[in-house]
Amino acid sequence: MIEFRDVGKRFADGTVALQSLSFTAREGEITVLVGPSGCGKTTSLRMVNRMIDPTSGSVLLEGADVADADPALLRRGIGYVIQQAGLFPHRRVLDNVATVPVLQGLSRREARVRAAELLERVGLDGALAQRYPAQLSGGQQQRVGVARALAGDAPVLLMDEPFSAVDPVVRVELQDELLRLQAELGKTILFVTHDIDEAIRLGDRVAVLRVGGRLAQFAPPDELLAHPADEFVTGFVGRDRGYRRLGFVPAASLALVDLPTGRDGAGGDGDGGGTPGEWTVLLDGDRRPAAWLAPDGGRHDLGSVYVTDAGGAVQEGAGTLRGALDAALSSPARCGVAVDADGRYRGGVAADDVLALLDRDGGREHAR
Ligand SMILES: Nc1ncnc2c1ncn2[C@@H]1O[C@H](COP(=O)(O)OP(=O)(O)OP(=O)(O)O)[C@@H](O)[C@H]1O
Ligand SMILES: [Mg+2]
Repeated sequence: MIEFRDVGKRFADGTVALQSLSFTAREGEITVLVGPSGCGKTTSLRMVNRMIDPTSGSVLLEGADVADADPALLRRGIGYVIQQAGLFPHRRVLDNVATVPVLQGLSRREARVRAAELLERVGLDGALAQRYPAQLSGGQQQRVGVARALAGDAPVLLMDEPFSAVDPVVRVELQDELLRLQAELGKTILFVTHDIDEAIRLGDRVAVLRVGGRLAQFAPPDELLAHPADEFVTGFVGRDRGYRRLGFVPAASLALVDLPTGRDGAGGDGDGGGTPGEWTVLLDGDRRPAAWLAPDGGRHDLGSVYVTDAGGAVQEGAGTLRGALDAALSSPARCGVAVDADGRYRGGVAADDVLALLDRDGGREHAR
């Protein structure tokens, strides 16, 4: 647990980076600090490992004021990842990662074994371990940075815009990877970004800061999208927040409707079993939906299917209203097809039912 208590920072030149910042990053959670450039995110993060000391207030780690800790010892218990990965350019990738375990007293040989394990864990091919950082792509370098931060086996991880220098596709991959790792490792992570989408995707809780280091709101992503505290947060989370919020509302209580179904390939033209005058879902022998049969007898692709039983952050939108709405809107029949985790047909999803559920949840005006 990391606790900020009325933390203020005035630099020597008089710049006030933080006013009186208070929030708690809980054990085993990802807490995201998000806000515009210059709002004090990096300053806050560096106070945890004492690269910067506050001028007022205190930062507590596991209940103890970090001001009382020896900086070198303190940093050994805290992994730190920065933008551009901050790798040592003249050391091979493997040795970049092995550095920390060596400092912790492992032999070079043991440290390299551990480093190789970690590189694999963050999804890097073993062949890359012998290269120098400049011989890797930006996304690969960031993975090395994450592996290095994990190498010390520290319970706390500080991440300062670790994924901001890579293209959007790689960035989403790195985010997925982090969520997957976190599900296994359960570290206490303080993550800085200026990208609200990244904050919402990764954060268990999100602290929105405004310039001058003032906390505008501290809440789980769903709450941030549903109830922005003020105009600043509203502007920051954006106008499409309603749609994005759908991804956080579990669709457990969404009632599925019975659709006419038929057996794929049962009829003479390979599309038999349809109900005349209605859109019919054609199922294969394992009851997996194969296609739609239109009222005029034409065969159409399904569009996206809605997976009802798959949860978790890794499969984005699965089991949430967003997945349900996507399936409904992408269907030629204007009705989504819901399947279970094995891909077997469960029922139909009507867009109106999704919106009604959102309505009941008090968020209808955001859904448009
Ligand atoms: N050593 C310093 N001396 C004076 N002012 C500083 C110093 N370091 C940071 N600042 C100022 O403190 C404020 C907060 O800086 P900080 O680096 O924490 O912002 P940030 O939120 O991380 O911004 P960015 O998104 O651009 O990284 C800024 O106005 C910055 O110019
Ligand atoms: Mg910064």
